[in-house]
Amino acid sequence: MTMSVTLIDTIKSRAAAEAERSTYPDGFPILPPVPAGRYRDPDFAALEAEAVFGRTWLFVAHTEELPEPGDFRLLDQLPQPIVLVRGQDERIRAFYNTCKHRGAALLDEAEGNTGRRLTCPYHNWVYSLEGALVGYPEAGNFADLDRDCLGLTTVRCEVWGPLVFINLNPDAGPLTDYLGAVGEDLSEISELNGRLRLADHRAREVPVNWKIPVDANVETYHVNYVHRDTAAKGLRQAATGIQLLGNGHSRMLVRLHDGMQFDTPFPPLVGGVGDLPLVGTFSYHVFPNLSIVFGGPGFLFFITNWPTGPGTSTYHVHWCSSVGPDDELAPTLLEPFVEFNQAVLFEDLKVLPGIQVSIDAGGIDSFRLSYQERRIYHLHETLDRTIGVERVAEQLRVPPVLGPFVEA
Ligand code: FES
Repeated sequence: MTMSVTLIDTIKSRAAAEAERSTYPDGFPILPPVPAGRYRDPDFAALEAEAVFGRTWLFVAHTEELPEPGDFRLLDQLPQPIVLVRGQDERIRAFYNTCKHRGAALLDEAEGNTGRRLTCPYHNWVYSLEGALVGYPEAGNFADLDRDCLGLTTVRCEVWGPLVFINLNPDAGPLTDYLGAVGEDLSEISELNGRLRLADHRAREVPVNWKIPVDANVETYHVNYVHRDTAAKGLRQAATGIQLLGNGHSRMLVRLHDGMQFDTPFPPLVGGVGDLPLVGTFSYHVFPNLSIVFGGPGFLFFITNWPTGPGTSTYHVHWCSSVGPDDELAPTLLEPFVEFNQAVLFEDLKVLPGIQVSIDAGGIDSFRLSYQERRIYHLHETLDRTIGVERVAEQLRVPPVLGPFVEA
């Protein structure tokens, strides 16, 4: 299932109508202040780590980062020691990077190829690429080892086309169910293996809570100011249309100035979204930390931000397009496209650390969000719901008000 023509037209017309609106929308609640402690409090951060990052589907890699059997990649996005491995059967799996003898790390390089086996460097226990224990030295010194029970601990791992997701909760439902309307809108991604090419994957430490860059990605209120010399030359900030979706997800279209249109020779990637990637920047947020952004019809990038502490995080971007880095168009079109958009994102990262300094110093106790920043409130409501509101300290809770405005 892809988007209907009616939905595409509705998204475009709502964004255009926003540019004409001059008063607060009738019937929409005033958003309660968001306690700044949610961006600093270690107990709240621990709840997020356990109940949110420990129990939701998380985008972690592009399949082209592990192209061959035996290729592996250690995930540095999470505190848990997890490794992705491509098996002999071509399937990508996720395991704890932990030997079942006495817990040594099996792999210590960030990425590489481990051949046909995973071998522990400590006492040489050997595992298949599919995680089974296949051998160990001096077997006569063990009386009762059950090999079948001593395979590597697996982590739920599903691919959506070329996109690799993991979930630390072994009992989680399928990824497709979790993606909901986002997965339906972008269902063609499941067929884009080999056609949604990875151009680059960059990561950067940022001295702010993980939600601060996420907040910047889900609103356009700042575009005319932070990006006045870059994105604002193309985007009409006021023409921003938003739909809140189930599971904390959302979509957004910010239209180009009248008479402008994205024009790239990259073949389009997701025909089912019609001309939305032509008329503006069209994007999705997938709870908790993934933004999917169309930078024109043949260009998609995937931003994730990962907590490394209550006030620190790591910002990752997977830059993808319908042409790969080896294509003849790459030097003239792909690389400048990545550099321009990377510069826009880094404009945000330059402003954001001051927010964390203010929060940590007690200079601000709550955030006051506008109607156009309601995706941020949607994120917070979903955090409380996912954690279990009764577990959140009373002074840090956000009252739920957006339920009637969630569309799908
Ligand atoms: Fe791996 Fe001993 S800890 S073989």
